[in-house]
Amino acid sequence: FNIYKQIHSPDPNRLPTQFEEWQKQAREILEDGPYEYVAGGSGGEDTVQSNREAFKRWNILPRVFRNVEDRNLKLGLFGDMLPSPVMIAPIGVQSIIHKDGELATARAAASMGVPYIASSASTHSMEEIAEVMGDAPKWFQLYWSSEPSIAKSFVERAEHAGYTAIVVTLDTPMMAWRELDLKNVYLPFLIGEGIGNYLTDPAFRAGLRVPPEEDSMGAIMHWTRVFGHAGLTWEDLAELKTYTSLPIILKGILHPEDAKLALKYGADGIIVSNHGGRQVDGAIAALDALPAIVEATNNQVPVLMDSGIRRGADIFKALALGAKAVLIGRPCMYGLAVAGESGVRQVMNNLLADFDLTMALSGCRDLNEVNKGMILPADR
Ligand code: FNR
Repeated sequence: FNIYKQIHSPDPNRLPTQFEEWQKQAREILEDGPYEYVAGGSGGEDTVQSNREAFKRWNILPRVFRNVEDRNLKLGLFGDMLPSPVMIAPIGVQSIIHKDGELATARAAASMGVPYIASSASTHSMEEIAEVMGDAPKWFQLYWSSEPSIAKSFVERAEHAGYTAIVVTLDTPMMAWRELDLKNVYLPFLIGEGIGNYLTDPAFRAGLRVPPEEDSMGAIMHWTRVFGHAGLTWEDLAELKTYTSLPIILKGILHPEDAKLALKYGADGIIVSNHGGRQVDGAIAALDALPAIVEATNNQVPVLMDSGIRRGADIFKALALGAKAVLIGRPCMYGLAVAGESGVRQVMNNLLADFDLTMALSGCRDLNEVNKGMILPADR
């Protein structure tokens, strides 16, 4: 209702409502390098496109006459009570989008109680991000370094800084074939935008011959050597569990057999994701991968999903197919580009209002009512 009310207070600087308009304005503000880094995918971007098409292949089957005056969108997850089943995805290098970078996004999230997942590849350190968020819910995303002492140090720092879960991203031991970045000769890391957590890390600094303040290029080159770890296997998860008692959530699972292995090796949660179509081009749409993974995990751990969510109906469909919660990536980054902290807040407000209305108009008062019976394949 508050969002409708804004229409009656004409303001030339009013922020956009439509996702497409946010993206268009972000395109106008950002240079090709950063814009295409954010908006683009890998290869021919088939998976970026599939992520969207997958949502269109499901239809909602609304119910009526159900007294939807009061709705409960709250979700208990890993000990936190969240205002809704929506959180902000880990996204690195946010200083290429807005001068305040992750601090703006984290502040917006904290002001709404929406969980923020801080990326290993943030421009700002995890401690700075945690500080601006206060007690608000926050998780830390780990890019597992090939240097074990750095991986251990990151996890310990995160726990110490007040993050309450570790999200381990498994689909990015190395960067994929990203044609737009190759065309633009643009990788934010190579200009030092994503190494805030590394420059502040004692284990990373111990591997440098010269402090990064004196040799920033040397630090960046060292980062390229230690960032990813293509040699990891399921057995390594046990080692990670010795670093922390926080829940460990595996991000980037698409195969149901991997979901079963995640359970076998003691993961506390799964995020079904293809990294927004930025890793394996041609990979299955995240929404299409979701049902088999929900089935394979059989309610033993929460299954979350991201990749392609743009509107309230998309959130509804993901929940109906068994996701406990969803993560929002690029829409927040377009909000950040357009209006910093208030842009991210407005994007999330719009999305949550849209989702709440979709619930009400579909006859759902509680998240438990958003189930398989509420949707049908469009091409039945
Ligand atoms: C990402 N993503 C990502 N994931 C992660 O685990 N660590 C990271 O540092 C990043 N960095 C990152 C940068 C940019 C610019 C984008 C667009 C994405 C992936 C992200 O967490 C999420 O999986 C996708 O963004 C979800 O897809 P949508 O919502 O963007 O379609």
